[in-house]
Amino acid sequence: MSKVTILGIESSCDETAAAVLEDGRTVLSNVISSQIDIHTIYGGVVPEIASRLHCENINGCVKKALEDAGKDYSDIDAIAVTKGPGLVGALLIGVSHAKGLSLAKNIPLIGVNHIRGHVAANYISHPELKPPFVCLIVSGGHTHLTIVKDYRDFMIVGRSVDDAAGECYDKVARAVGLGYPGGPKVDKAAKEGNPEAIVFPRGEVKDRPYDFTFSGLKSAVLNYINKANMMNEEICVPDLCASFQQAVVDSLVSRTMNCARAYGVKQVALAGGVSANSTLRAAFKAACDSEGFECFYPEPIYCTDNAAMIAAAGYHDYLAGVRDDMTLNADPSLKL
Ligand code: KG4
Ligand code: ZN
Repeated sequence: MSKVTILGIESSCDETAAAVLEDGRTVLSNVISSQIDIHTIYGGVVPEIASRLHCENINGCVKKALEDAGKDYSDIDAIAVTKGPGLVGALLIGVSHAKGLSLAKNIPLIGVNHIRGHVAANYISHPELKPPFVCLIVSGGHTHLTIVKDYRDFMIVGRSVDDAAGECYDKVARAVGLGYPGGPKVDKAAKEGNPEAIVFPRGEVKDRPYDFTFSGLKSAVLNYINKANMMNEEICVPDLCASFQQAVVDSLVSRTMNCARAYGVKQVALAGGVSANSTLRAAFKAACDSEGFECFYPEPIYCTDNAAMIAAAGYHDYLAGVRDDMTLNADPSLKL
């Protein structure tokens, strides 16, 4: 059987990206144009600037992805594009570009859920991974504990009732002056700190053992900083980062292991931007080893936003016969 070649396009937040994949697992090219340097000036993603930069960059990204892959439009079986969730103006650039290409080059179009894309990043890094598996999805906007029953069949077991894990990292980083994007900066600072220096709460949601809550932790960190400022006491940023991070990681890992045990699933995966976190990866691996679970997480480049993961998810939609037409629209609050 000939291979299925998918062009992936991603523009949901602050990365413009395009990639070409074969059979949903083999990356022929992966182009990412990051806007981080510009948004850093403003301390976070400015939606209007993100849309404008996507507009400027998308054509070049798609061309380079085809060039790097050594492919032409005539080799592409389908275009998979992120349709949501994300920033509506940003999503619209990718969706409109993909619709234009689909129409002009007569290539089937598939709108992909960005969160499912994050999960599919694991298929790229682990060619042997097949459902069912437990997947903890931790990104800037989402914290979901799921069971991936089949490639396109997800069961949500738990979710954050307030802030997403990545959002919490970004807010804490801003509060201690590390700037945007917070996750990688807290990760780095924490390496020099003591995770037991400050005791921060591990939030529980009453009667919902698989749900997460990070707002109490965030408030505790902000209160700690305010109190130190009022008392004119110096804050040890590495200790604060390490202690905050330990609280997040404990909450994430314990629920994921409980879920895998309770549902009898022996493969456990991480996905989303926060899954690039070094402490989370190490704690997750150690917990899986001691439980006898197989542990999976994507290579760091496929943890944060990219188009290879969108093509990987789109591949399974393609096999299932999913096709979109020119009515495809961006859906900023698309659910998993
Ligand atoms: O998945 P992603 O790239 O975009 C969304 O779909 O939201 O996730 C971005 C989030 C940001 O909150 C960022 O701070 C966080 O992932 N992140 C990290 C790390 N790298 C990115 N958080 C903790 N440690 C990291 N190394
Ligand atoms: Zn993402």
